[in-house]
Amino acid sequence: MGVSGVGKSTIGNLLSKKLNIPFFDGDDFHPEENVLKMSKGKALNDSDRLGWLKVLNNLAIEKLKETGCVIVCSALKQSYRNILSTNINQSVKWVYLSGSFEIIEERINNREGHFMSSALLKSQFDILEEPKNAIKIDINLTPNEIIKVIEKELLNKSEFGLFGLGVMGKSLTRNLANNKVRLSIFNRHVDGVEEDVAKNFKNQFEELSKALPFDSIEPFVKSLEKPRKIMLMVNAGKIVDLVIEDLLPFLDAGDILIDGGNSNYNKTKERFDYLKSKNIHFLGAGVSGGEEGALKGPSIMPGGEKDAYKEVKPFLEAIAAKDVNNLPCCTHIGSDGSGHFVKMVHNGIEYVEMQLLVEVFVMLKSLGNNPDEIANILESWKESTNSYLLEITIDILRKKEGDDWLVNKIMDKAGNKGTGNWTTITTAQLGVPSTMIASALFTRYISFYKEERIHLSKSFEKDETLNLNIENTDILKAYQFARIINHYQGFKLIYEASVNYKWDLNLSELSRIWTNGCIIKSDLMLELVTVFKTTNNILTDKGIIEKLKTLKPSVKKVVSECILNELPIPNFSESINFFNGFKVANSSANLIQAQRDYFGAHTYQRIDDTSNKFYHTNWKK
Ligand code: 6PG
Repeated sequence: MGVSGVGKSTIGNLLSKKLNIPFFDGDDFHPEENVLKMSKGKALNDSDRLGWLKVLNNLAIEKLKETGCVIVCSALKQSYRNILSTNINQSVKWVYLSGSFEIIEERINNREGHFMSSALLKSQFDILEEPKNAIKIDINLTPNEIIKVIEKELLNKSEFGLFGLGVMGKSLTRNLANNKVRLSIFNRHVDGVEEDVAKNFKNQFEELSKALPFDSIEPFVKSLEKPRKIMLMVNAGKIVDLVIEDLLPFLDAGDILIDGGNSNYNKTKERFDYLKSKNIHFLGAGVSGGEEGALKGPSIMPGGEKDAYKEVKPFLEAIAAKDVNNLPCCTHIGSDGSGHFVKMVHNGIEYVEMQLLVEVFVMLKSLGNNPDEIANILESWKESTNSYLLEITIDILRKKEGDDWLVNKIMDKAGNKGTGNWTTITTAQLGVPSTMIASALFTRYISFYKEERIHLSKSFEKDETLNLNIENTDILKAYQFARIINHYQGFKLIYEASVNYKWDLNLSELSRIWTNGCIIKSDLMLELVTVFKTTNNILTDKGIIEKLKTLKPSVKKVVSECILNELPIPNFSESINFFNGFKVANSSANLIQAQRDYFGAHTYQRIDDTSNKFYHTNWKK
């Protein structure tokens, strides 16, 4: 691209021969009336150009289906370039031939037979908007020198940068490479701790043979074509800000940073705003699926500007897991921190799903089953209630070490990296009763006080006369009940946040990208994709309500029996307690209001007054 006289056709022809792809001179596609207008010395206006630009865009789309092509045209305004790039934005590479008015004017005046007089040149300079994401080349270079620069910029540049080669970073890198993405990969250098990480990693895997390894930031950034796309896979927290500051001096306007860690959505919003002020796009992308998922296909939850997502969409959707319709489990979630928000809640749902399986294990063990026998029972549940977490739990229970099961040798103190904590804090801040997520988190905290539990156990000997009068099928039905409540609460939190932050999230699309690749993928999640097409609240769906009616007797029986036998099943009991409270039209919160008004004069509303008026009573009179 560039004003007339910069030598577009000469360079375009040379480049097409070099790349062995067809060449088209955009001027050959002007309609007659445009050529006539220009030959009379009249400047074309936007509407004259619109049809012409669309013809060139269609030509590019067609050729892109084969080998691609070189098209030269002025493309002076960003709006023209947007039309020319329609639907092929991530495949268009702009080369901007730039020169001074004087040099170009002299060139035009020395040319024969062109229908553009130099007088028109000024009108072109007047509307020229320099492109942000182009290979800019000074026309003082010779044509061959220009071709060399273009070739170096175009062909040797990487399409995508991966920053941080930890467990997830390495898996995502290999996934990207397996999807033929031209990659630059970076890992910091720390004497004696992290040395030549990128180089050694590249040499470990055949699929990385073309990847460019770096341990220095500037060359890593310079190795990327513009707009640069860099995915940060570093630990959540301060390090993300430090890495951003390290990268900023080398970035250009329009570049895109993707934070693929489990960052806090509030921090993501801050970073989004901070980088926006520096004309850098920032996408906070939840990535779920662990090490194997990241390698074979994770679920990816990018949030941020839609235009920025469009630039990285081909790469993220290529590496994402695929749903039952072979669609990528990756979608633009919403603006600013929404991607990391939904990932946080994903982890909250995950905590509960894991805790429910733990409580199933407690019950089945109390019924006298060993881990293998429990695994066999869970195996039989796959038909009706499958999930990734059920499958891995079966594998875990079958794992032996010598004559014993490995699970029996693991210290019973559950850790966490903070996402369940954030979800619980957030749900409290938003006033949403995600009681099961909170319960699952606090149950992990209970497990952590191992010494106190040992001490207390000495004062309360375990009652060996267990009489757990429940069947395996009761447990399965109770498990199904509790999972529905868990998913209701998780998506309710997401919905309320979407309203609160004006994200306008699509719960059906969100549950769709959670049907594969992520830790909470399950048959139930697949069912919710359809449910969320007609409601944002699954407890209004007739099919879900019928299920709950069928399952409720079992959860009541299972929870009652477990409590009578002193078995800890906090998440199962929370599921029915929450439900019992939520299905009551007239609750007992009126007494809370009375108590608050009694000691704090906090006032209350009346059911016989619809005016929303608040009352206070002097209760002592
Ligand atoms: C995922 C997982 C992952 C999670 C850790 C465990 O979606 O792949 O949720 O992101 O952070 O695997 O998290 P905790 O340490 O909080 O249990």
